[in-house]
Amino acid sequence: FSGQLVLGIDTSCDDTGVGLVELAADGSVSVRANRVWSQTVHANYGGVMPELASREHVERIDAVMDDALKEAGVRVSDISAVAATSGPGLVGALLVGLMYGKGLAQGLGIPFYATHHLEGHIYAAASESSLQPPYLALVVSGGHTHLFDVPQTGEYVLVGATRDDAAGEAFDKVARLAGLGYPGGPAVSEAAKRGDPKAVPFKVPLAGQKGYEFSFSGLKTAALLAHRAGAKPEDLAASFQAVAVKSLVQTSVRAARDLGRRTLVVSGGVAANTALRESFAATELNVIFPGKGLNTDNGAMIALAGAAAIRAGRAAHGLEDGATAYAP
Ligand code: KG4
Ligand code: ZN
Repeated sequence: FSGQLVLGIDTSCDDTGVGLVELAADGSVSVRANRVWSQTVHANYGGVMPELASREHVERIDAVMDDALKEAGVRVSDISAVAATSGPGLVGALLVGLMYGKGLAQGLGIPFYATHHLEGHIYAAASESSLQPPYLALVVSGGHTHLFDVPQTGEYVLVGATRDDAAGEAFDKVARLAGLGYPGGPAVSEAAKRGDPKAVPFKVPLAGQKGYEFSFSGLKTAALLAHRAGAKPEDLAASFQAVAVKSLVQTSVRAARDLGRRTLVVSGGVAANTALRESFAATELNVIFPGKGLNTDNGAMIALAGAAAIRAGRAAHGLEDGATAYAP
């Protein structure tokens, strides 16, 4: 390589993600590999079982690593830096990837970067553009609905977040109550194509607020009531998706205007949603989305955040720093 090869590991929840990113001498980045093992052992529990998640990570991480090396056509000795998610997430699950990454960095004698999961989600979009601050970043996933202002590299100011459920969580719950299957986001999106977005008159949550907060639990209840009143699953999906997207777009665009930001990064699992993408693309903002496979949890986004840390000249972490997983 002329540049550096950065390994990224994410085991924060129920996906074992390993990615490899090449950081060229001119500062540009390219994803060389992105392998994710999505756990299915939780299917019968109605939620992620932390102990099962940790065990699965332990059992799978070597194979996922091998696949990533094969995909990139490289060897372990080609890796020049390691980044692994240190939080937030399930502590037992996080520790698997964190310790795997630290062990590798120690063994190879290369720098190690403990990485924040949300920083990874934001940098997932860095493969699409050079991502120069200042910009706003909306992270919408199953665990987060967070709007950050990023005035400069490495600085994150929380502008607004959800008061209750995350957007992805609401997609999952609406899918479940309407019997649309799992995972909920893609199922709602698919059913919505056949439904009428005006069929169920949902109100945009927190309409008229001065701040930039989000709320999805009221919508979830309204969806349940509409379902009991006999709304068709497709109509429910279309109406829910329309109002959820409207809420995310309106609040983010208002924040961007108020803060004078022209660029918005939209990332996290829900950023894979087509209706959301179309709606954001129609705004006056320069909206950047992560590429395919980089929206939901993965290792490449952690490698991209690691590459950004290297490029910004941030100090690497000693093996004692960030030695334990944290959950801010
Ligand atoms: O980022 P992610 O993989 O995991 C977390 O960190 O939470 O996000 C998963 C979430 C799930 O709630 C899933 O239903 C949602 O992202 N999601 C979607 C779509 N694809 C995934 N939501 C709406 N539309 C989609 N196409
Ligand atoms: Zn995530």
